[in-house]
Amino acid sequence: MNIQRVIPRVHGLFLSHFNVNQPSCCAIRWFSSKSDINEHRAKVMAKGLPEKKPLPGVKSIILVASGKGGVGKTTTAVNLACAMKVIEPDKEIGLLDADVFGPSVPLMMNITGEPMLNDDNLIEPLLNYGVKCMSMGLLVSGENAVVWRGLMVMQALERLTRHVAWGPLDCLVVDTPPGTGDTHLSLAQNLPIDGAIVVTTPQSAALQVTKRGVNMFEKLKIPIVGLVENMSHAMCSKCGTKNYVFGNETKQSADQMGLEIIESFEVDANMSECINSGKPAIYALADSIHAEKYRQLANKVFKYISDKDKEAKATKQ
Ligand SMILES: Nc1ncnc2c1ncn2[C@@H]1O[C@H](COP(=O)(O)OP(=O)(O)OP(=O)(O)O)[C@@H](O)[C@H]1O
Ligand SMILES: [Mg+2]
Repeated sequence: MNIQRVIPRVHGLFLSHFNVNQPSCCAIRWFSSKSDINEHRAKVMAKGLPEKKPLPGVKSIILVASGKGGVGKTTTAVNLACAMKVIEPDKEIGLLDADVFGPSVPLMMNITGEPMLNDDNLIEPLLNYGVKCMSMGLLVSGENAVVWRGLMVMQALERLTRHVAWGPLDCLVVDTPPGTGDTHLSLAQNLPIDGAIVVTTPQSAALQVTKRGVNMFEKLKIPIVGLVENMSHAMCSKCGTKNYVFGNETKQSADQMGLEIIESFEVDANMSECINSGKPAIYALADSIHAEKYRQLANKVFKYISDKDKEAKATKQ
């Protein structure tokens, strides 16, 4: 295969689209009358939403999201993708880091190096732990801050999805940034997403933001696989008492939102070590309760995908 270095090309592609010195859109547009506004609005609406085209060779797509930052989305996405590969080694699993401003998948999956372009001009994902990975962190150097507007983010996501040789994949797990912004909208409007796993911690501040995230997915018609409660409590290493350091309100909120808590992970001091060493907990702490729960989560996701598949086939007949 004629593999080429991808970075100069990708930089070229990005730079041709993202000229920061010449912003691509004008921030304010003035209208002289109300009928002028209505005419403009009608034109915009007539354009409609972009068509959701499948990713070639990718059977299912699962988002890992949360309105709130720092609740453990990437930790969940990384361990879920690896656990899916562990329990079903014959299945092809991918992990897309859609956090273009703060990519942390390369660190957590211990992937470095330049991705290459294949004969079809597609970027080859990098492989570790048997999982195909792609991240903006692999395409721009670590120290360079990414300063982009919404449109640029959408174009970057287009590159990370449609210009990557993902297929064949049974499931692509997508790690998303915090918030309910351009990235989520862009992914939801462009990709056929099978479901979203919403990660939250048990304190009310996080749960409030989680509700906003859940509302967004409802509006975007993306089904929610369930809630993952992270950092549910800390266990005292001496007496085994559960300390609800972040509160204990997840169940109540889940009931209000009509969602199921599909897995719950306690605080474990070793988790941060896994991140620093680039070895996900599913491998580094293979005998731990966390690893077992990630395997159970992976099982639930496989079952969700297969049920959805059967449902789709049944409605077609
Ligand atoms: N169950 C856990 N016990 C202890 N530490 C944890 C646990 N889950 C995640 N962490 C730690 O919390 C920090 C944040 O996790 P992570 O980066 O996965 O969150 P995130 O939601 O992806 O953050 P961001 O919104 O910035 O993308 C990391 O240092 C991680 O090691
Ligand atoms: Mg993250």
